[in-house]
Amino acid sequence: MDLFDKLEGRPSPLGPFTSEGYGYYTFPKLEGPLGPEMKFNGKDMVVWSINDYLGVGSNEEIKKIDAEATAKYSLSAPMGARLMTGNTTEHELLEQELAAFVHKPAAQLLNYGYQGIMSVIHSLVDRNDFLIYDELSHACIVDGKQLSMAEKSVFKHNDIESFKKQLYRAASKKKDNSSILVITEGVFGMTGDLGILPEIIELKKEVPFRLLVDDAHGFGTLASDGSGTGTHLECQEGIDIYFGTFAKAVALIGAFVASEPRVIEFLKANVRSQIFAKSLPLPIVVTARERLKMIRQHPEWREKLWDNTIKLREGLKKIGYNVLPSESPVTPVLTSGSTDLCTDIMRKLREEYGVFVSGVAYPVVPKGIVLIRLIPTAAHNDAHIEKTLDAFASIKDFVMSAANKLTA
Ligand SMILES: Cc1ncc(COP(=O)(O)O)c(C=O)c1O
Repeated sequence: MDLFDKLEGRPSPLGPFTSEGYGYYTFPKLEGPLGPEMKFNGKDMVVWSINDYLGVGSNEEIKKIDAEATAKYSLSAPMGARLMTGNTTEHELLEQELAAFVHKPAAQLLNYGYQGIMSVIHSLVDRNDFLIYDELSHACIVDGKQLSMAEKSVFKHNDIESFKKQLYRAASKKKDNSSILVITEGVFGMTGDLGILPEIIELKKEVPFRLLVDDAHGFGTLASDGSGTGTHLECQEGIDIYFGTFAKAVALIGAFVASEPRVIEFLKANVRSQIFAKSLPLPIVVTARERLKMIRQHPEWREKLWDNTIKLREGLKKIGYNVLPSESPVTPVLTSGSTDLCTDIMRKLREEYGVFVSGVAYPVVPKGIVLIRLIPTAAHNDAHIEKTLDAFASIKDFVMSAANKLTA
């Protein structure tokens, strides 16, 4: 069979939306300057779908820094992988600053979070090792696990008993040259709950292992200094390899891992997605350094983010929505219903109320569940929150009657 013909029948995580609703439910185009007010299909929207947690992406001072750095260095420089010709003092300084930011001794810059962490996982474990990960791990962890030759096992989401079972099983099968790598997330991006890091770390006393935490959503947003979920849960020391991305709170491209110097030295020589790929352009590195500095200097951005998060979440709860026990700014609204309900909610909010949210239904979440996700940021204001709560209050009967129809 021709490969291209076969692709037509292959399932996709987007289900029917692989082709249907293109430009509306999938691949929508938000236009105008980045921020909580953007245009969609020519209409003004209050946007709750971008992870610019601290409002860095719409900060005028930062835009000036971006323009100056681009004029000074060009978007081309440096050329080549860092290992060859793409290294600069700016790249190295950024690594030192990232390490200090998350209270680790050393860091490695990654061009992209997704490829970076996949490749880190691949380089860390070999066929003698064991890799244990949370079932709700982000696709980049799942793909990183696929690349690795280690024996893999998965534990039920945030279930310590299930984790223990996998850990003890690995310990019983371990040979002298076997090691165990455990991977979980700081903040789970769809549901907003935190990884059970202290409980997992406690088990190192029984079975030695190393812990890698993907803190994409916690970096910059959690802990009083923004250093993430580990600091927030008072267990940063127990995280052996900390991963953060610039794609959320730093509103940029790029990512990093932070760990002991000997581990970072190993990764710099072994992470294939960095060794065989062009290094991050200098303007990105320069603005990342400035953004990090400003995030450090403006704790009030984080306070505003949390203030907005609490107002939004409490408002939704008061109307009667199930917002799940989220412990991060990620604000999920969960209801039962079909894919049609999910698209109806998104369309109603956009067309009738000028509120832009994203939603997921089967096959991304189990059948019968609709999850609408709102991402509050420091750039949202009370008027945005009120307008959104009014909209959610107005569609409540519609949402609940659709949910009741499903359960009847
Ligand atoms: C939990 C998590 N890990 C990793 C990534 C990938 O990071 P990046 O966008 O920098 O490739 C994302 C998405 O951005 C994410 O949500």
